[in-house]
Amino acid sequence: MTEIPHHDIIRHLGHRRTVIGEAPGRVNLIGEHTDYSGGFVLPTVIPQTTAVAVAANADGASRAWSASVPHDQQQVRFVVGEEARTSTWVDYVQGATAVLRAAGHRVGGFDAVIRSEVPLGSGLSSSASLTVAVLRALRDLFQLHIDDVVLAGLARRVETDFIGVPVGVMDPIACALGAANHALFLDTRDLSWQLVRIPSTAEFAVINSGISHSHATGSYRQRRQECDAATRALGVHEIRDLSEYGQRRIEQLPEFLRKRARHIVSENARVLAAVEALRKRDMARFGVLMDESHASLRDDYEISLPQIDRMVEIARSQRGVLGARITGGGFGGSIVVLTLAGQAVRVATAVAQAARDELGLRPQVLVPPTK
Ligand code: GLA
Repeated sequence: MTEIPHHDIIRHLGHRRTVIGEAPGRVNLIGEHTDYSGGFVLPTVIPQTTAVAVAANADGASRAWSASVPHDQQQVRFVVGEEARTSTWVDYVQGATAVLRAAGHRVGGFDAVIRSEVPLGSGLSSSASLTVAVLRALRDLFQLHIDDVVLAGLARRVETDFIGVPVGVMDPIACALGAANHALFLDTRDLSWQLVRIPSTAEFAVINSGISHSHATGSYRQRRQECDAATRALGVHEIRDLSEYGQRRIEQLPEFLRKRARHIVSENARVLAAVEALRKRDMARFGVLMDESHASLRDDYEISLPQIDRMVEIARSQRGVLGARITGGGFGGSIVVLTLAGQAVRVATAVAQAARDELGLRPQVLVPPTK
């Protein structure tokens, strides 16, 4: 749980009635870049969360303050009812009121104090954890009747409709519905989901490379467009609809579309196999699938970087490691490593040390948490 220091609340919200919304970051275990073409994903939550304290403010000028951004950007202003995109972090706050109002909910003015433990640009859903936490705080403050599934959909619209980043549906759902020690198996086509227990014989480690990415910039958007182009060229509604026979047609696509489509087909199959492995408690098999997922993201979907590939290799060379891969949108961010129970701290520390010494990176071990 992220603590917002009492003096920050008093300084920015005074002694008004305050409610707090909170949501964790997520790490995707397998099923990468499949959530915008109706595929399968398998994320879990991380211990780091975002907390948002809000208090009503009726004077028509709202303020938000965040301890988790550079000093000169900490305080921002907005007006509920006159939300307009600014391309700064206030868009995650005023985007929430914009989508709530568009969905017919009554929200008034408020001030907010934010603190996040989820590093920005780390591939661990700092933005969805913020939007879900803001929406939860506003739900309480204005007594809105919205369940967490609907709330996750609103959180996604903050990013797609208000901010204009074409993200898929995985992150807000993982942040809103995920649970510790469970993987969330989500079918992004019909949004059916199940929590599957992670056996206690294995553990995950998450190491942020410190190479920050942004999905607002070109590469993520480009992959989405390529995925759409491959779908059109194959003449299906979604790549998942390809029959086994249809999958042979992938080989006739131009090379880069062929690679993109091949990743999506193989990654969807790997998620289903990974869920089966979890249910059978076959974590060695799960690890192999993670390794294959990384190779596919590196070679076919091309969203990795040489330094991240090297971190994955270093992780795999450690004793007690069952598998490792890049996680999240890519082009930087974090790696996730599966280890035997009791080994994750040692492995994560060794990987971070090597990434510092050999690659000159400023990595950060997030899971297992150090405090
Ligand atoms: C980002 C997006 C998600 C998903 C992943 C890649 O995190 O927000 O919707 O597409 O990248 O799996």
